[in-house]
Amino acid sequence: MNILLTGGAGYIGACTALFILKLNPNFKCIIIDKEETQNIKKLQILFPNNIKFYKIDMCRMDLLETVFNDTKVDGVIHFAAYTIVSESEKETYKYFHNNINSTLNLLELMKKYAVSNLIFSSSASVYGVAEYLPIDEDHPLKPVSTYAISKKICEDLILKYSERGINYVILRYFNPAGAIDGIGEEHNPETHLIPLLIRSMLEGNIFKIFGNDFPTPDGTCIRDFIHIEDLANAHFLSLRKLLGEEIKNEIFNVGINNGYSVMEVVLKAIEMFKGKVNKNFRYIIDSRREGDVPALVAKANKIKNKLGFYPKYTIEDILQSVWNYESQKIST
Ligand code: UFG
Repeated sequence: MNILLTGGAGYIGACTALFILKLNPNFKCIIIDKEETQNIKKLQILFPNNIKFYKIDMCRMDLLETVFNDTKVDGVIHFAAYTIVSESEKETYKYFHNNINSTLNLLELMKKYAVSNLIFSSSASVYGVAEYLPIDEDHPLKPVSTYAISKKICEDLILKYSERGINYVILRYFNPAGAIDGIGEEHNPETHLIPLLIRSMLEGNIFKIFGNDFPTPDGTCIRDFIHIEDLANAHFLSLRKLLGEEIKNEIFNVGINNGYSVMEVVLKAIEMFKGKVNKNFRYIIDSRREGDVPALVAKANKIKNKLGFYPKYTIEDILQSVWNYESQKIST
């Protein structure tokens, strides 16, 4: 099977490629990305015969078409996107242009080359400010940030192209975090809670909690953190069922059905790593960050029932894996 992973050099894409190839040594992963990151090198070392990498901007239809010309693709997992909510509020054109055009080009080429199986990385941010918790897939879609609106538009494009023979699974991720086999979050700049918290604890910096005046029990935002290996498994299960024609045209939340506040995560990490934390570490309350919504917690029953997806990992597992990953970086 030839699986095309767009944005496969990034954190979620590379972890998913790793997970798929570990389970299926006969699969080939064709990875497209704007950047050739360390993740690609790691994957090529681990799976020298299973990775084909193209450094391509998907907004260039002509370049993207070379990939479909070169190889018969059996299924596509479309990760490629700009993903930082706060940045998207300042860079509207960049986010809409990249996220929407890359998806449109991909869909058009899938149609042209009769590639029918698509898994799309969507986001819980398409729900906007939660009207009720936990959030099921039927919750109204009222995206707030430019990033979230771009994901909603891409979902609409996919729904339209499904009338032209594309079978989709849309996965609405809640908050992916954690590390596997030496692959962890390396966004530039890093904006996510868990890697920033652990780095502050190891390096002895001040960690800023963005806002404690949200309408939540302790005033800090609540999120549903899903371990990256569980998330990779959600892609793999979706792919298997799509390729086996057991499902088509489904939308699933991917979370653990449980939320933790930012303050709870900070206190949990302090408790877990006490004695090892750099003595200069401390945390402060800062002002709210633009685009943040108070609480996002998944009702993730549908993916359990239809795919048999049961997350294995807890918030403690996530924190431990990031601690190990970041400590390893410091020691090498
Ligand atoms: N936070 C801090 N301090 C930091 C970093 C984050 O207090 O230094 C807070 C944020 O304000 C937010 C929470 O931690 O309240 C989680 O923030 P993240 O940046 O880790 O994650 P987000 O919830 O903003 O966004 C993530 C993905 C998005 C996706 C969204 C959907 O990055 O792509 O989850 O839930 F849309």
